[in-house]
Order: sequence, then C-alpha cells, then structure tokens
Amino acid sequence: MILVTGGAGFIGANFVLDWLSHSNEPILTLDKLTYAGNVENLHSLQGDTRHTLVQGDIGDRDLVAQLLAQHQPRAVINFAAESHVDRSIHGPGDFIQTNIVGTFNLLEAVRGYWSGLPAADKAAFRFLHVSTDEVYGSLAKDDPAFTESSHIEPNSPYSASKAASDHLVRAWHHTYGLPVLTTNCSNNYGPYHFPEKLIPLLIVNSLAGKPLPVYGDGQQIRDWLYVKDHCSAIRRVLEAGRLGEVYNVGGWNEKANIDIVHTVCALLDELRPRADGRAYKEQITYVTDRPGHDRRYAIDARKLESELGWKPAETFETGIRKTVQWYLDNPQWVAHVQSGAYRDWVQKQYA
Ligand code: NAD
Ligand code: TYD
Repeated sequence: MILVTGGAGFIGANFVLDWLSHSNEPILTLDKLTYAGNVENLHSLQGDTRHTLVQGDIGDRDLVAQLLAQHQPRAVINFAAESHVDRSIHGPGDFIQTNIVGTFNLLEAVRGYWSGLPAADKAAFRFLHVSTDEVYGSLAKDDPAFTESSHIEPNSPYSASKAASDHLVRAWHHTYGLPVLTTNCSNNYGPYHFPEKLIPLLIVNSLAGKPLPVYGDGQQIRDWLYVKDHCSAIRRVLEAGRLGEVYNVGGWNEKANIDIVHTVCALLDELRPRADGRAYKEQITYVTDRPGHDRRYAIDARKLESELGWKPAETFETGIRKTVQWYLDNPQWVAHVQSGAYRDWVQKQYA
C-alpha cells in the first residue's frame, strides 16, 4: 500500500482517485483537513475498502510513525502543503510550519520507519515529494524554460517554503540515503480545484455575476497542466524515477493570464450563456497587482519525457473545456466549499 499526504486537497484527491482507477493497491490518506482539504473530494470512495482517510498533521511525528508501523507502506507521496501564494503574503506562518517544519518531521518519521525495514523492502521503498516550478523564481519573456538545473530563486513566502522543503528532501537522500524523488510541476487546473485559485475563481465568479479580478496588467505567464496529467507523471516517476533525482513536470502550455480569462469567458458563453445575452468578458476587472508577482513560469519537461517516456494526454484546449464542464456539472461541490471561511478570504483579498 501507499501513504498519500494531503490527499483531500486538489491534486492529492485527483491522485487518489486516479490511482485507484488504475490499480487495486490500497491508499492511506493523511490529511489535516485545513480549509483546502475537503472530504467531499473523495466522496466516491465511501465504502471502498482500498481507501482509508486519517485526519492528522504531517508535522505530528508520533502519529506518522504509528501509521507507518501499522500500515507498512512501500511508498509515501507528499502532497500536503499550504499552497496559495496570496495567502502566504497575508500570513506566511502556516507556510513555514507545514511546508518546512512539517516536511522535516515527516522526513524524520519516514527515515525511522525506512531504516528498520528488511533489506528488500528498504531498497524498494520510495519517498516522493511533490513540488512546484515556483521554486525557480521568475523568467523574463525570452528566457529558456526552467530545467532541473535552473537556479532555485523563490520569490514568495509560498515558493520559499516549498524550496526549503525540496532542499530538506534532497539532504535526507544525500546524508541518510533515504530513497527520495522530487517532482516540480507547473500550474495545475481541473476538477476539485479550490476557487481561490485563478481558473476555478473565474468560473465561479462568472456564474455568480461577480467581477473577474485580473492582477496588474494580466500579462503574467503561467504554464498550465491538466491535473490528471500531473497524476500520471507522478505515477511514472514513482515507478521508474532514478533515486535522488528531480523531474520537472509540464505540458508546454504557456499562457498569459488575460488569455486564460478570455478562454474561460468564451467557453462559458458557449456552454452556459448569460441570461441577459451579454458576454462574460464584460465582468473582467483589473485590480491591484500581487506584491512581488512573478512575471513568467515555464517548464522544460524533456528529462521526464526522454528518461521515463511521459507525455501529457490533454492539450490546454481539451483540458480547459473538461474543467469548465466539470464546474457546470458540480454546483453542489462549489456551494459546499464556499463556506464562511471562504467568504472571509474573498472579503480580505478583494475588498
Ligand atoms: P491544496 O491546498 O488544494 O491541498 C493541500 C492539502 O494538504 C489539503 O488537503 C490540506 O488539508 C492538506 N494539508 C495542509 N497542511 C497539512 C498538514 N500540516 N498535514 C497534513 N495535511 C495538510 O494544494 P494542491 O494544489 O492540491 O497542491 C498539492 C501539492 O502540489 C502541494 O505540495 C503544492 O505545493 C504542489 N503543487 C501544486 C500546484 C498547483 O498548481 N496547485 C502545482 C505544482 C505543485
Ligand atoms: P494562482 O491560481 O493563484 O496560481 P500561482 O500564483 O500559484 O501561479 O494564480 C495564477 C495567476 O493568476 C497568477 O499570475 C496570479 C493571477 N491571478 C489573478 O490575476 N487574479 C486572481 O484573482 C488570482 C487568484 C490570480
């Protein structure tokens, strides 16, 4: 079996669902269930004996040690993190605590478990750490895309905390021999994406007749990957990645934010036209830019492709259409995540 941390969040939940649709190997999910963790994401697994959810903190070393001893996983996949850049600007403390201190405690618990395994299990064990392209910092317009040997130059409290966790994972391999793998992925989108992030926020606000907030000039570039393609990349790296290596994950889909906004608006015009017959793009509103806003991210995923033969299945056009359709088909999921805590965040960020 495998242990997945953060498996009730956006990518973690997609990973758990994806894994169990490909394999009968059981999963133990450990998730603190912060505002971003949502048991409804795993609703379809209710009663499925292949999946167990435990509410708890990756920083709780005793709990993690106990779970490892009891369930004897052959791998740990670490998704658990505070993940939203804007929240890290308002309050970096939780990011330091979970992404750095939490990862440290998780690594220590895993090291204790791994070092006591019989030789064959020890050799087969893997710790896969899920990270982000944001650790590489910001690119100028004509710079080449980030490779695995690009400088680590994080600019936000979020990306700095993720970079720190990547360094810890690397050090636990070099110093203690822990069999680790790290993936650094570009921006994901798809089902179960919490509507504080750009794409789900645009869909949800469009349908509610609310402004579509574009930070600054809207010309910042992100490299978008459909979440299920990220999941298949993680499965492949877990299966065949070389120990201690870093693999960049991306789909060669660089888009300016304003183009994303127009694409989502056009899809909604087609799939769920406004009652008054006007275009959703009329709701676009330029707002104050994010402090320290990185201008451009782009991932060079050739290592993953040439070494492990991974390629994304979706283009941006197919993935974004599926995503908009998913939000149209799941209004109840949206209504449930828009809790009081969510409304407080929107008020704080966009007031
Ligand atoms: P998310 O915020 O949607 O989910 C994070 C999950 O971790 C939640 O379920 C939350 O409850 C849980 N969690 C938070 N703190 C915890 C703790 N201390 N102990 C246990 N669980 C805890 O995030 P996401 O978008 O699904 O991202 C998952 C991982 O992928 C993160 O490590 C993130 O840095 C990385 N990543 C995200 C993207 C992206 O575009 N979203 C891109 C590349 C990498
Ligand atoms: P986001 O989804 O927060 O991801 P990240 O900051 O990790 O890349 O934001 C994606 C891009 O969209 C980023 O350049 C910031 C921008 N953005 C807006 O313009 N308006 C918004 O309301 C949000 C949430 C993001």
